[in-house]
Amino acid sequence: MTHNPEKRPLLKMFKAVPPSYDLLNRILTLRMDEKWRKRAAVECLSGNPKEVLDLCTGTGDLALRLRKSATPATVVSALDYSPPMLERAKIKARKSGIEGINFIHGDVADLPFSENRFDVAGIAFAFRNLTFHNPDRDTFLKEILRVLKPGGRLVIVETCQPTNKLFRSLFHFYMKWITVPIGGIISGHYGAYRYLAHSASNYWNCHEASAFLSASGFSKVKAFPLLGGISAIYIAVK
Ligand SMILES: C[S@@+](CC[C@H](N)C(=O)[O-])C[C@H]1O[C@@H](n2cnc3c(N)ncnc32)[C@H](O)[C@@H]1O
Repeated sequence: MTHNPEKRPLLKMFKAVPPSYDLLNRILTLRMDEKWRKRAAVECLSGNPKEVLDLCTGTGDLALRLRKSATPATVVSALDYSPPMLERAKIKARKSGIEGINFIHGDVADLPFSENRFDVAGIAFAFRNLTFHNPDRDTFLKEILRVLKPGGRLVIVETCQPTNKLFRSLFHFYMKWITVPIGGIISGHYGAYRYLAHSASNYWNCHEASAFLSASGFSKVKAFPLLGGISAIYIAVK
């Protein structure tokens, strides 16, 4: 396990892409990313949790949604290992007048929280980063389990694989021939968008992701495909 996050290969990329990150998410998903995060936020807040953690918050979209929709009594924390991502998230919160999110710089491999603390952990479009050919994925999952309360839920929204073969081919075509050039030109970081296209096209389908969550120690794993399986929401219980 790489204890030093500075040695993680993806960190360099997540330090470079923040300036155009939100814009490209909106363009490349035709704003569907917002709808999907909204749905994830609703799942996170069902049952009125006391403490919610947005893992890999990036520019803070899920955390901001959680803070806006949760009751004032719900404590919202948001963690990321990329300082420029966190900086963007804080600026966005300030500009939208949203207060009270605990932004934390940290690594999912070594979460700075006591065990059994959170009722819910949400993670939007970063579970793939933690698990796709990632040698530390078991460590990440152990840490997430550790900080969740018994009965606590992990809510994931992530790219998936469309079940329809033709739709799946179109999705892979779009990733390779639309996402990479547009993402590369606008961000100036072709490598980051090549990684996105490659990891999303070769990532787990709903069954594989659910099986991984169960094998990692979660129970009652449920998958809800979105838009024919381009993305999915997973709910798993500690
Ligand atoms: C694709 S972005 C997703 C950001 C955000 N959740 C969203 O919905 O747009 C992935 C984020 O995960 C963060 N990340 C990746 N691996 C991490 C780790 N091991 N610990 C903490 N953050 C991590 C990156 O810095 C980046 O901000």
